Amino acid sequence: MSTFKALRVHQVEKSFQSRLEQIQLSDLTPGEVVIRVAYSCLNYKDALAVTGKSRIMRAMPRVAGIDLSGVVESSADPQYKPGDKVLVTGCNVGELLDGGLAEYARVPAEAVVPLPAGLSLSEAMALGTAGFTAGMALRRMLENHQAPEHGPIAVTGPTGGVGSVAISLFKKQGFTVAAITGKTTPESEKYLRMLGADEIVDRNTLELGSKPMEAARWGGAVDNLGGDTLAYLTRTVKPWGNIGSVGLAQGFGLNTTVMPFILRGVSLLGIHSVEMPRAWRLQIWERLASDWKPAQLAQIANRTISLEEVPAACAELIASQVLGRTIVRIGGDS
Ligand SMILES: NC(=O)c1ccc[n+]([C@@H]2O[C@H](COP(=O)([O-])OP(=O)(O)OC[C@H]3O[C@@H](n4cnc5c(N)ncnc54)[C@H](OP(=O)(O)O)[C@@H]3O)[C@@H](O)[C@H]2O)c1
Repeated sequence: MSTFKALRVHQVEKSFQSRLEQIQLSDLTPGEVVIRVAYSCLNYKDALAVTGKSRIMRAMPRVAGIDLSGVVESSADPQYKPGDKVLVTGCNVGELLDGGLAEYARVPAEAVVPLPAGLSLSEAMALGTAGFTAGMALRRMLENHQAPEHGPIAVTGPTGGVGSVAISLFKKQGFTVAAITGKTTPESEKYLRMLGADEIVDRNTLELGSKPMEAARWGGAVDNLGGDTLAYLTRTVKPWGNIGSVGLAQGFGLNTTVMPFILRGVSLLGIHSVEMPRAWRLQIWERLASDWKPAQLAQIANRTISLEEVPAACAELIASQVLGRTIVRIGGDS
Protein backbone atom coordinates (compact mmCIF):
# COMPACT_ATOMS: atom_id res chain seq x y z
CA MET A 1 0.00 0.00 0.00
CA SER A 2 1.32 3.51 -0.70
CA THR A 3 -1.34 5.60 0.97
CA PHE A 4 -4.54 4.58 2.74
CA LYS A 5 -7.65 6.08 4.34
CA ALA A 6 -7.65 6.99 8.03
CA LEU A 7 -9.91 9.00 10.33
CA ARG A 8 -7.49 11.24 12.21
CA VAL A 9 -8.05 13.63 15.09
CA HIS A 10 -6.12 16.91 15.03
CA GLN A 11 -5.75 19.64 17.59
CA VAL A 12 -6.66 23.03 16.10
CA GLU A 13 -5.85 25.67 18.70
CA LYS A 14 -7.99 24.60 21.68
CA SER A 15 -10.40 22.37 19.78
CA PHE A 16 -10.16 18.83 18.41
CA GLN A 17 -11.25 18.06 14.86
CA SER A 18 -11.44 14.74 13.02
CA ARG A 19 -11.18 14.24 9.29
CA LEU A 20 -10.83 11.40 6.83
CA GLU A 21 -7.48 11.67 5.05
CA GLN A 22 -4.90 9.71 3.07
CA ILE A 23 -1.85 8.80 5.13
CA GLN A 24 1.15 6.46 4.88
CA LEU A 25 2.41 3.69 7.12
CA SER A 26 5.33 5.90 8.16
CA ASP A 27 2.80 8.39 9.60
CA LEU A 28 1.69 5.83 12.20
CA THR A 29 3.07 5.40 15.71
CA PRO A 30 5.63 2.57 15.93
CA GLY A 31 4.71 -1.07 16.51
CA GLU A 32 5.86 -4.54 15.45
CA VAL A 33 2.64 -5.67 13.76
CA VAL A 34 0.99 -4.16 10.65
CA ILE A 35 -2.66 -5.18 10.29
CA ARG A 36 -5.01 -4.82 7.33
CA VAL A 37 -8.11 -3.67 9.18
CA ALA A 38 -11.29 -5.61 8.45
CA TYR A 39 -13.60 -4.04 11.06
CA SER A 40 -13.60 -1.51 13.84
CA CYS A 41 -16.52 -0.34 15.99
CA LEU A 42 -17.76 2.63 18.00
CA ASN A 43 -17.32 2.98 21.74
CA TYR A 44 -18.24 5.96 23.89
CA LYS A 45 -14.57 6.94 24.00
CA ASP A 46 -14.34 6.90 20.18
CA ALA A 47 -17.39 9.13 19.99
CA LEU A 48 -15.81 11.62 22.41
CA ALA A 49 -12.59 11.62 20.35
CA VAL A 50 -14.19 11.91 16.90
CA THR A 51 -16.71 14.61 17.89
CA GLY A 52 -13.95 16.53 19.71
CA LYS A 53 -16.10 16.63 22.85
CA SER A 54 -13.22 15.49 25.08
CA ARG A 55 -9.49 15.26 24.78
CA ILE A 56 -9.16 11.48 24.40
CA MET A 57 -5.97 11.53 22.30
CA ARG A 58 -2.88 11.91 24.40
CA ALA A 59 -0.93 13.22 21.39
CA MET A 60 -2.12 14.55 18.02
CA PRO A 61 -2.68 13.96 15.21
CA ARG A 62 -3.77 10.39 15.92
CA VAL A 63 -5.95 7.89 14.08
CA ALA A 64 -9.11 7.33 16.13
CA GLY A 65 -10.55 3.93 17.07
CA ILE A 66 -9.71 2.00 20.24
CA ASP A 67 -10.64 -1.35 18.63
CA LEU A 68 -9.91 -3.23 15.42
CA SER A 69 -9.94 -6.69 13.92
CA GLY A 70 -8.12 -7.75 10.79
CA VAL A 71 -5.39 -9.77 9.14
CA VAL A 72 -1.66 -9.46 9.79
CA GLU A 73 0.10 -7.89 6.80
CA SER A 74 3.62 -8.08 8.27
CA SER A 75 5.18 -8.62 11.69
CA ALA A 76 8.59 -7.97 13.19
CA ASP A 77 7.53 -10.22 16.07
CA PRO A 78 7.77 -13.98 15.36
CA GLN A 79 4.52 -14.66 17.29
CA TYR A 80 2.58 -13.35 14.27
CA LYS A 81 2.82 -14.06 10.55
CA PRO A 82 1.10 -12.61 7.48
CA GLY A 83 -2.42 -13.94 7.13
CA ASP A 84 -3.06 -14.40 10.88
CA LYS A 85 -6.48 -13.18 12.02
CA VAL A 86 -6.21 -10.92 15.06
CA LEU A 87 -8.06 -8.39 17.20
CA VAL A 88 -6.89 -5.41 19.22
CA THR A 89 -8.81 -3.61 22.00
CA GLY A 90 -7.52 -0.97 24.39
CA CYS A 91 -3.75 -1.02 25.09
CA ASN A 92 -3.68 2.76 24.44
CA VAL A 93 -4.59 2.23 20.77
CA GLY A 94 -6.75 5.12 19.52
CA GLU A 95 -5.51 7.28 22.41
CA LEU A 96 -1.72 7.50 22.77
CA LEU A 97 -1.15 5.26 19.74
CA ASP A 98 -2.78 5.41 16.31
CA GLY A 99 -6.00 3.41 16.23
CA GLY A 100 -8.29 1.22 14.20
CA LEU A 101 -10.47 3.59 12.16
CA ALA A 102 -8.19 3.23 9.13
CA GLU A 103 -7.48 0.75 6.37
CA TYR A 104 -4.19 -0.23 8.04
CA ALA A 105 -2.99 -0.17 11.64
CA ARG A 106 0.45 -0.63 13.17
CA VAL A 107 0.47 -1.71 16.81
CA PRO A 108 2.82 -3.19 19.43
CA ALA A 109 2.82 -7.02 19.46
CA GLU A 110 1.76 -6.85 23.13
CA ALA A 111 -1.58 -5.34 22.05
CA VAL A 112 -2.42 -8.09 19.56
CA VAL A 113 -4.79 -10.95 20.47
CA PRO A 114 -5.03 -13.94 18.10
CA LEU A 115 -8.67 -14.17 17.00
CA PRO A 116 -10.12 -16.90 19.25
CA ALA A 117 -11.81 -19.85 17.57
CA GLY A 118 -15.53 -19.19 17.94
CA LEU A 119 -15.42 -15.54 16.86
CA SER A 120 -15.42 -14.09 13.36
CA LEU A 121 -13.62 -10.82 12.61
CA SER A 122 -16.94 -8.94 12.63
CA GLU A 123 -18.15 -10.65 15.84
CA ALA A 124 -14.92 -9.56 17.55
CA MET A 125 -15.93 -5.98 16.77
CA ALA A 126 -19.58 -6.60 17.66
CA LEU A 127 -18.13 -7.12 21.15
CA GLY A 128 -15.13 -4.76 21.00
CA THR A 129 -14.01 -2.90 24.10
CA ALA A 130 -17.63 -2.66 25.28
CA GLY A 131 -18.10 -6.43 25.33
CA PHE A 132 -14.66 -7.02 26.75
CA THR A 133 -15.38 -4.55 29.56
CA ALA A 134 -18.69 -6.21 30.39
CA GLY A 135 -16.77 -9.51 30.50
CA MET A 136 -14.23 -8.03 32.87
CA ALA A 137 -17.01 -6.77 35.16
CA LEU A 138 -18.56 -10.25 35.21
CA ARG A 139 -15.19 -11.83 35.96
CA ARG A 140 -14.32 -9.45 38.81
CA MET A 141 -17.77 -9.75 40.38
CA LEU A 142 -17.77 -13.56 40.21
CA GLU A 143 -14.26 -13.61 41.70
CA ASN A 144 -15.65 -11.55 44.57
CA HIS A 145 -18.43 -14.09 45.18
CA GLN A 146 -21.38 -12.42 43.44
CA ALA A 147 -24.08 -15.08 43.14
CA PRO A 148 -27.60 -15.12 41.66
CA GLU A 149 -29.16 -15.70 45.11
CA HIS A 150 -27.89 -12.27 46.25
CA GLY A 151 -30.57 -10.66 44.08
CA PRO A 152 -30.87 -8.82 40.77
CA ILE A 153 -27.93 -7.14 39.06
CA ALA A 154 -28.74 -3.51 38.24
CA VAL A 155 -27.24 -2.44 34.91
CA THR A 156 -27.11 1.29 34.21
CA GLY A 157 -26.75 2.69 30.69
CA PRO A 158 -28.27 -0.65 29.62
CA THR A 159 -29.09 0.26 26.02
CA GLY A 160 -25.42 1.18 25.40
CA GLY A 161 -22.63 -1.14 24.35
CA VAL A 162 -21.27 -2.19 27.75
CA GLY A 163 -24.76 -2.35 29.26
CA SER A 164 -26.24 -4.47 26.47
CA VAL A 165 -23.50 -7.09 26.67
CA ALA A 166 -23.58 -7.00 30.49
CA ILE A 167 -27.29 -7.88 30.54
CA SER A 168 -26.71 -10.81 28.23
CA LEU A 169 -23.64 -12.08 30.14
CA PHE A 170 -25.22 -11.94 33.60
CA LYS A 171 -28.44 -13.58 32.37
CA LYS A 172 -26.41 -16.41 30.89
CA GLN A 173 -24.81 -16.95 34.31
CA GLY A 174 -28.24 -17.37 35.90
CA PHE A 175 -28.66 -13.88 37.40
CA THR A 176 -31.81 -11.81 37.20
CA VAL A 177 -31.12 -8.37 35.72
CA ALA A 178 -32.74 -4.96 36.17
CA ALA A 179 -32.05 -2.39 33.43
CA ILE A 180 -31.97 1.17 34.82
CA THR A 181 -32.38 3.21 31.65
CA GLY A 182 -32.96 6.80 30.60
CA LYS A 183 -34.85 5.63 27.48
CA THR A 184 -38.55 4.95 27.77
CA THR A 185 -39.70 4.18 24.22
CA PRO A 186 -41.50 0.94 23.29
CA GLU A 187 -38.52 0.19 21.02
CA SER A 188 -35.98 0.46 23.87
CA GLU A 189 -38.18 -1.66 26.13
CA LYS A 190 -38.47 -4.34 23.43
CA TYR A 191 -34.68 -4.23 22.97
CA LEU A 192 -33.96 -4.62 26.70
CA ARG A 193 -36.47 -7.50 27.03
CA MET A 194 -34.86 -9.19 24.02
CA LEU A 195 -31.49 -9.05 25.88
CA GLY A 196 -33.12 -10.71 28.88
CA ALA A 197 -33.85 -7.81 31.26
CA ASP A 198 -36.30 -9.05 33.91
CA GLU A 199 -37.15 -5.55 35.13
CA ILE A 200 -36.92 -2.15 33.44
CA VAL A 201 -36.51 0.87 35.70
CA ASP A 202 -36.99 4.42 34.40
CA ARG A 203 -33.90 6.33 35.57
CA ASN A 204 -35.71 9.67 35.11
CA THR A 205 -38.24 8.87 37.84
CA LEU A 206 -36.05 6.70 40.06
CA GLU A 207 -36.14 7.92 43.68
CA LEU A 208 -32.44 8.24 44.54
CA GLY A 209 -32.86 9.05 48.25
CA SER A 210 -30.21 10.85 50.24
CA LYS A 211 -29.52 8.77 53.36
CA PRO A 212 -26.08 7.09 53.67
CA MET A 213 -27.96 3.81 53.16
CA GLU A 214 -31.41 3.32 51.65
CA ALA A 215 -33.51 0.12 51.52
CA ALA A 216 -31.30 -2.54 49.94
CA ARG A 217 -32.72 -3.55 46.55
CA TRP A 218 -29.95 -4.82 44.25
CA GLY A 219 -27.78 -7.90 44.57
CA GLY A 220 -25.02 -6.06 42.71
CA ALA A 221 -24.57 -3.61 39.84
CA VAL A 222 -22.68 -2.80 36.66
CA ASP A 223 -22.50 0.97 36.45
CA ASN A 224 -21.77 2.88 33.26
CA LEU A 225 -22.80 6.31 34.54
CA GLY A 226 -20.87 7.34 37.67
CA GLY A 227 -22.11 10.51 39.41
CA ASP A 228 -25.43 10.49 41.28
CA THR A 229 -26.42 7.10 39.84
CA LEU A 230 -23.32 5.35 41.15
CA ALA A 231 -23.81 7.06 44.54
CA TYR A 232 -27.40 5.72 44.57
CA LEU A 233 -26.14 2.21 43.81
CA THR A 234 -23.71 2.29 46.76
CA ARG A 235 -26.70 3.13 49.00
CA THR A 236 -28.99 0.40 47.66
CA VAL A 237 -26.85 -2.69 47.03
CA LYS A 238 -27.49 -5.55 49.46
CA PRO A 239 -24.91 -6.88 51.94
CA TRP A 240 -21.81 -8.34 50.29
CA GLY A 241 -22.89 -7.21 46.83
CA ASN A 242 -20.42 -5.85 44.26
CA ILE A 243 -20.61 -2.81 42.04
CA GLY A 244 -18.46 -2.89 38.91
CA SER A 245 -17.60 0.75 38.26
CA VAL A 246 -17.20 0.98 34.49
CA GLY A 247 -18.14 4.41 33.19
CA LEU A 248 -18.83 8.09 33.62
CA ALA A 249 -21.55 8.85 31.06
CA GLN A 250 -23.32 10.93 33.75
CA GLY A 251 -20.29 12.26 35.62
CA PHE A 252 -16.95 11.40 37.21
CA GLY A 253 -17.87 12.54 40.71
CA LEU A 254 -18.90 10.14 43.48
CA ASN A 255 -20.66 11.60 46.48
CA THR A 256 -21.27 8.80 48.97
CA THR A 257 -20.19 7.69 52.45
CA VAL A 258 -18.25 4.73 53.81
CA MET A 259 -21.44 3.34 55.43
CA PRO A 260 -22.38 0.82 52.68
CA PHE A 261 -18.80 -0.48 52.69
CA ILE A 262 -18.39 -0.88 56.44
CA LEU A 263 -21.97 -1.77 57.43
CA ARG A 264 -23.05 -3.86 54.42
CA GLY A 265 -19.71 -5.15 53.14
CA VAL A 266 -20.48 -3.71 49.70
CA SER A 267 -17.49 -3.76 47.30
CA LEU A 268 -16.78 -1.18 44.64
CA LEU A 269 -14.73 -2.94 41.96
CA GLY A 270 -12.72 -0.89 39.46
CA ILE A 271 -13.09 -2.00 35.85
CA HIS A 272 -10.27 -0.88 33.56
CA SER A 273 -10.17 -2.31 30.06
CA VAL A 274 -7.16 -0.48 28.62
CA GLU A 275 -4.22 -1.97 30.50
CA MET A 276 -4.03 -5.21 32.49
CA PRO A 277 -1.95 -8.37 32.73
CA ARG A 278 -1.97 -9.93 29.23
CA ALA A 279 -3.11 -13.29 30.62
CA TRP A 280 -6.37 -11.72 31.85
CA ARG A 281 -7.01 -10.20 28.42
CA LEU A 282 -6.52 -13.56 26.67
CA GLN A 283 -8.68 -15.40 29.22
CA ILE A 284 -11.58 -12.94 28.93
CA TRP A 285 -11.52 -13.12 25.12
CA GLU A 286 -11.51 -16.93 25.27
CA ARG A 287 -14.64 -16.87 27.46
CA LEU A 288 -16.36 -14.29 25.22
CA ALA A 289 -15.70 -16.55 22.24
CA SER A 290 -17.05 -19.66 23.97
CA ASP A 291 -19.34 -20.12 26.97
CA TRP A 292 -19.90 -16.37 27.55
CA LYS A 293 -20.62 -15.53 23.89
CA PRO A 294 -23.91 -13.58 23.87
CA ALA A 295 -26.68 -15.40 22.03
CA GLN A 296 -28.05 -11.98 21.00
CA LEU A 297 -24.75 -10.65 19.57
CA ALA A 298 -26.24 -9.94 16.12
CA GLN A 299 -29.13 -7.98 17.67
CA ILE A 300 -26.74 -6.04 19.95
CA ALA A 301 -24.46 -5.04 17.06
CA ASN A 302 -27.43 -4.16 14.88
CA ARG A 303 -25.79 -1.55 12.66
CA THR A 304 -22.80 -1.69 10.27
CA ILE A 305 -21.49 1.56 8.81
CA SER A 306 -18.61 2.74 6.62
CA LEU A 307 -15.63 4.85 7.66
CA GLU A 308 -17.31 7.84 5.97
CA GLU A 309 -20.38 7.46 8.22
CA VAL A 310 -18.41 7.42 11.49
CA PRO A 311 -18.55 11.15 12.42
CA ALA A 312 -22.37 11.31 12.17
CA ALA A 313 -22.74 8.02 14.06
CA CYS A 314 -20.45 9.34 16.82
CA ALA A 315 -22.66 12.40 17.27
CA GLU A 316 -25.70 10.09 17.67
CA LEU A 317 -23.85 8.02 20.27
CA ILE A 318 -23.00 11.11 22.34
CA ALA A 319 -26.64 12.23 22.10
CA SER A 320 -27.62 8.79 23.49
CA GLN A 321 -29.77 8.03 20.43
CA VAL A 322 -28.39 4.55 19.77
CA LEU A 323 -29.55 1.11 20.91
CA GLY A 324 -26.68 -1.38 21.12
CA ARG A 325 -23.45 -1.38 19.15
CA THR A 326 -22.21 -0.11 15.80
CA ILE A 327 -19.67 -2.04 13.71
CA VAL A 328 -17.51 -0.13 11.22
CA ARG A 329 -16.77 -2.19 8.11
CA ILE A 330 -13.41 -1.17 6.63
CA GLY A 331 -11.83 -3.93 4.49
CA GLY A 332 -14.42 -6.49 5.57
CA ASP A 333 -13.74 -10.23 5.31
CA SER A 334 -12.38 -10.11 1.76
N1 LIG B 1 -13.65 1.37 32.43
C1 LIG B 1 -13.42 1.03 31.17
O1 LIG B 1 -12.40 0.43 30.83
C2 LIG B 1 -14.47 1.35 30.15
C3 LIG B 1 -14.58 0.58 28.97
C4 LIG B 1 -15.64 0.88 28.09
C5 LIG B 1 -16.50 1.92 28.36
N2 LIG B 1 -16.31 2.67 29.48
C6 LIG B 1 -17.23 3.75 29.82
O2 LIG B 1 -18.49 3.14 30.09
C7 LIG B 1 -19.55 4.00 29.68
C8 LIG B 1 -20.42 3.25 28.66
O3 LIG B 1 -19.68 3.00 27.48
P1 LIG B 1 -20.41 2.46 26.17
O4 LIG B 1 -19.36 2.26 25.14
O5 LIG B 1 -21.35 1.37 26.54
O6 LIG B 1 -21.25 3.77 25.78
P2 LIG B 1 -22.63 3.89 24.97
O7 LIG B 1 -22.81 2.75 24.06
O8 LIG B 1 -22.69 5.28 24.47
O9 LIG B 1 -23.71 3.73 26.15
C9 LIG B 1 -23.82 4.63 27.20
C10 LIG B 1 -25.23 4.55 27.76
O10 LIG B 1 -25.30 5.37 28.93
C11 LIG B 1 -26.52 6.08 28.97
N3 LIG B 1 -26.18 7.52 28.86
C12 LIG B 1 -25.57 8.15 27.83
N4 LIG B 1 -25.40 9.46 28.09
C13 LIG B 1 -25.88 9.65 29.34
C14 LIG B 1 -25.99 10.78 30.19
N5 LIG B 1 -25.56 11.98 29.82
N6 LIG B 1 -26.55 10.62 31.40
C15 LIG B 1 -26.99 9.41 31.79
N7 LIG B 1 -26.92 8.29 31.02
C16 LIG B 1 -26.38 8.42 29.82
C17 LIG B 1 -27.35 5.59 27.80
O11 LIG B 1 -28.06 4.44 28.25
P3 LIG B 1 -29.64 4.48 28.65
O12 LIG B 1 -30.27 5.47 27.73
O13 LIG B 1 -30.11 3.08 28.47
O14 LIG B 1 -29.69 4.94 30.09
C18 LIG B 1 -26.29 5.11 26.81
O15 LIG B 1 -26.78 4.16 25.94
C19 LIG B 1 -18.88 5.26 29.13
O16 LIG B 1 -18.75 6.21 30.15
C20 LIG B 1 -17.50 4.76 28.71
O17 LIG B 1 -16.54 5.78 28.70
C21 LIG B 1 -15.32 2.39 30.36
